[in-house]
Amino acid sequence: MLEKYDILLVIDEVICGFGRLGEWFGSQHYDLKPDLMPIAKGLSSGYLPIGGVLVGDRIAETLVQEGGEFYHGFTYSGHPVCAAVALKTLEIMQRENIVERVRDDLGPYLAKRWATLADHPLVGEARSLGLMGALELVADKATGERFDSSLAVGSMCRDTCFDTGLVMRSVGDTMIISPPLVITHDEIDALVSLARAALDETARQLAASFHLTSLTSESCS
Ligand SMILES: Cc1ncc(COP(=O)(O)O)c(C=O)c1O
Repeated sequence: MLEKYDILLVIDEVICGFGRLGEWFGSQHYDLKPDLMPIAKGLSSGYLPIGGVLVGDRIAETLVQEGGEFYHGFTYSGHPVCAAVALKTLEIMQRENIVERVRDDLGPYLAKRWATLADHPLVGEARSLGLMGALELVADKATGERFDSSLAVGSMCRDTCFDTGLVMRSVGDTMIISPPLVITHDEIDALVSLARAALDETARQLAASFHLTSLTSESCS
């Protein structure tokens, strides 16, 4: 369809690139052929700031042919220190077969362990791919009904995660993990246990605040 209408495909590989989904790029997992790919984070494993946009030949050639120059320089573009760290990161990833390990071992292991969280009363869906996982927090497990956004349950859960010792982000009421690509099986087990503990604590806090709310409502009426 995109080819038919000559529409360019931009695939954001800032998170999914560099092994996160068990391929060098997330678009490979989904067999997509992007024209442009923003990249960053995993390129240097986050050790130094570096990002870029990979541009397909078709676009580069058009820019040169039509514009006479492919201008893409910024003051700190290609900073040698960041570039050296990125190159070394990629070299180590290749040498230690990190992408293959995510695809063949760590990703499937996380998928198996992460799926065990699906039985938690707060979890409407537990999903993962490679070393990225998400939990959808729901008010009603049977119907999948979401919480009222004013309750900010995702933020509440994120705070309990931090208190529990787990770095898990919230985007709305979706909880997201993106652990290091060198995580071990034992660490995945620990991560899942901490996530369950944080979910339990979130449920306790929710029950407590609902209790308080109903008390307040009753005393008002
Ligand atoms: C998938 C994705 N794309 C883009 C960005 C934004 O990148 P930047 O902060 O370099 O604009 C982020 C930042 O977290 C991201 O996660």
